[in-house]
Amino acid sequence: MPLLRDIFINLSENQLLNSAAQKYGLRLGAQSVVAGTNIPEVIKSMKELNAQGISCTVDNLGEFVYEKSEATKAKENILAVIEAIHENDVDAHISLKPSQLGLDIDYDFCYENLVEIVAKAAEYNMHVNFDMEDYARLQPSFDLLETISQEYNNVGTVIQAYFFNAKENIEKFKDYRLRIVKGAYKEPADVAYQDKHDIDLNFIELIEYHLLNGKFTSIATHDHNVINHVKQFAKEHDIPTDKFEFQMLYGFRKEMQLELAREGYNFCTYVPFGSDWYGYFMRRLAERPQNLNLVTKQVFTK
Ligand code: FDA
Repeated sequence: MPLLRDIFINLSENQLLNSAAQKYGLRLGAQSVVAGTNIPEVIKSMKELNAQGISCTVDNLGEFVYEKSEATKAKENILAVIEAIHENDVDAHISLKPSQLGLDIDYDFCYENLVEIVAKAAEYNMHVNFDMEDYARLQPSFDLLETISQEYNNVGTVIQAYFFNAKENIEKFKDYRLRIVKGAYKEPADVAYQDKHDIDLNFIELIEYHLLNGKFTSIATHDHNVINHVKQFAKEHDIPTDKFEFQMLYGFRKEMQLELAREGYNFCTYVPFGSDWYGYFMRRLAERPQNLNLVTKQVFTK
């Protein structure tokens, strides 16, 4: 359903709707996939997941940050999340988006914000993942990662399989902890595969490459075919289970998340929270229009 995908991606980029949504709490079914709007709520959700053998990566939601004051606020929120994880002894690390920390405002300002976060996380031996956004932000995000990793080793990033240059980048960053995904944004045909089949093939190739050659691999997908393939591949190549984990988003395929953890695989749930939930939620609808069920259920059970 490419048309529906485009509609939701366009909606996710609508700044007016984004700021309107922030004024109201979680709506439209977003509460099924966003773990609250504040730190105590997200800590509670993560503890519940930990109790079931699942670790977490937490994302303090935020996008369209064009003011330094907003980026500074985002940085302070993330620092507070790091403290809360430590104080509450939660099994969790941080996922963040460079644009939220000022990438679209000023590269050096963003760098300073990121270093402060990475340094604080390093004090608690906590990993920080730089989530990857659209193609325009790809290279600057890799540059930030490379510079920061000269001083800190608790950082990693994401490789998006839809990009033609994903193979080149996974080779370049093989010594980093990497999350591998299919890719969530709408990208032009001159930089990214458009066909789902091509993306899936590249996704598998990248995962296999990093499992065999790289540092820790996070396989982030809800696709059972890919998950089954990885399980088989790991067995055939004697890849120990402590070399990789599966990741899924909070609220999606909950039974499968638990099943993988019960089977003894490392499992990590990506836990988004915060008032800036709108863009994240629209991208989830774009990926899988069946997620609209979340919306309709919410509307009709009110
Ligand atoms: P996809 O949506 O291709 O689905 C494949 C098949 O799996 C479906 O046909 C269906 O059979 C089954 N399936 C999928 N979802 C299901 C469900 N909810 N219930 C039942 N069956 C289902 N992107 C990005 O660009 N930058 C990033 O930093 C990240 N980070 C990230 C972290 C984590 C933890 C995850 C899981 C994903 C991301 N993504 C991302 C998003 C990613 O790029 C991608 O858009 C989505 O994960 C959707 O692709 P999937 O691989 O999940 O399967």
